[in-house]
Amino acid sequence: MANLHILDHPLIQHKLSLIRDKNTGSKDFRDLVEEVAMLMAYEVTRDFSLQDVEIETPVAMATTKMISGRKVGLVPILRAGLGMVAGMLRLIPAAKVGHVGLYRDPETLKPVEYYCKLPPDVEERDLIVIDPMLATGGSASAAITFLKQRGARNIKLMCLIAAPEGVEAVDRVHPDVDIFVAAVDKHLNEHGYIVPGLGDAGDRLFGTK
Ligand code: PRP
Ligand code: URA
Repeated sequence: MANLHILDHPLIQHKLSLIRDKNTGSKDFRDLVEEVAMLMAYEVTRDFSLQDVEIETPVAMATTKMISGRKVGLVPILRAGLGMVAGMLRLIPAAKVGHVGLYRDPETLKPVEYYCKLPPDVEERDLIVIDPMLATGGSASAAITFLKQRGARNIKLMCLIAAPEGVEAVDRVHPDVDIFVAAVDKHLNEHGYIVPGLGDAGDRLFGTK
């Protein structure tokens, strides 16, 4: 699939294994999710364009490169997406952060919206939707649809772990969206959990059940 990018950097894969481990407690889980999000942000921003700038080093004048003023928006899907925000902001500190609140109905597995607050100039920004888990794809797909309804055009999706079903679902509805993941796992189980996955990302981040 042309718009699926699997980020297989050894540091990302190593930390992802620790994140998956059921014996990793909430504090380490949170720290690792933040670190992996930061490492993934490095790849997700690889296509940012550069412009020449003139600077003076202690030795000489030089023409060097800087990012050419693209405005970025991060859009975590509540709740679990919140765990990835701080890591990304360490690399992209000027990004504005919008929030889309969705939870997956445990019976129907369909996303239910409960919150949406976006930067006012959302249509001018390059948006990166973030959520650790892409399972059925319902939540990510709905979040991207909300953003498009509010005028957003340039959207990427970044998740730690995806199921093949979720990647296909998002690609079917939003073929214009590049999807960045650290791993594509085997399948979904009968409860809509990714196998082997990491369990419930929100519960592990926030210590709930
Ligand atoms: C999880 C996860 C995604 C969604 C993925 O959130 O963080 O948002 O499920 O599933 P899907 O691809 O099948 O839609 P959840 O609904 O558990 O809410 P939470 O983040 O508040 O825990
Ligand atoms: N949401 C999660 O948190 N984990 C899964 O495996 C699927 C959906």
